[in-house]
Amino acid sequence: MHVMVVNVKAYSQGIADEAVKIAKIMEDAGREFGVRMIIAVQPSDIYRVSNSSKIDVFAQHIDAISPGGHTGWVLADAVKAAGARGSILNHSEHRLKIDDIYESLRILKEKNMESIVCASSHEIAKAVASMEPDYVAVEPPELIGGDISVTKAKPEIISRSVEEVQKVSNSKVLCGAGIKNGEDVAKAIELGADGILVASGVVKALDKESIIKEMAEAMSR
Ligand code: G3P
Repeated sequence: MHVMVVNVKAYSQGIADEAVKIAKIMEDAGREFGVRMIIAVQPSDIYRVSNSSKIDVFAQHIDAISPGGHTGWVLADAVKAAGARGSILNHSEHRLKIDDIYESLRILKEKNMESIVCASSHEIAKAVASMEPDYVAVEPPELIGGDISVTKAKPEIISRSVEEVQKVSNSKVLCGAGIKNGEDVAKAIELGADGILVASGVVKALDKESIIKEMAEAMSR
């Protein structure tokens, strides 16, 4: 089943009740088009969103820590207890050292939580895939938040990442950066991705329902 991950980041259009609204639209679209929907929200919204919709809620990041004396860090046990099914790691906007990716992934696996590890290139995609996350998300940083989709600007980074990841692991590949419409989504799937990781194209859209449905429909073709 293809997967659509919406990362609401720290956009004001994606916090608190706005995050719940997006999740509910995703729930309907996922059911209608047979797409797995995941929403990655602020830590403070995990409980609220997971209690208000049936889709999977992810943290946007966890830290490589165990319960104990840590202040201001994100604990896997805590986001899990709040309802998170998994977490993004190493997003371009929150990069980690390789040891921290490894340790955070180990913690997620130990807690039976899923993982999406981001990579900025096919080389990094291959490297992080060797740690067997559930998903590797390939996103060229310079295209994130922009108007030109990775599927148009750098389609080869998607096909190459799929090829490289498949050589070393069973991780699924997501692609993201600048994805704005159904055409971009259909192209991502055609290039071999298992799904997309999208933010601004959904969160900042005036009509979120129509864009979420358009993207989900494109994934179900
Ligand atoms: O996590 C998703 C992301 O970095 C892509 O952002 O705004 O280009 O869809 P955006």
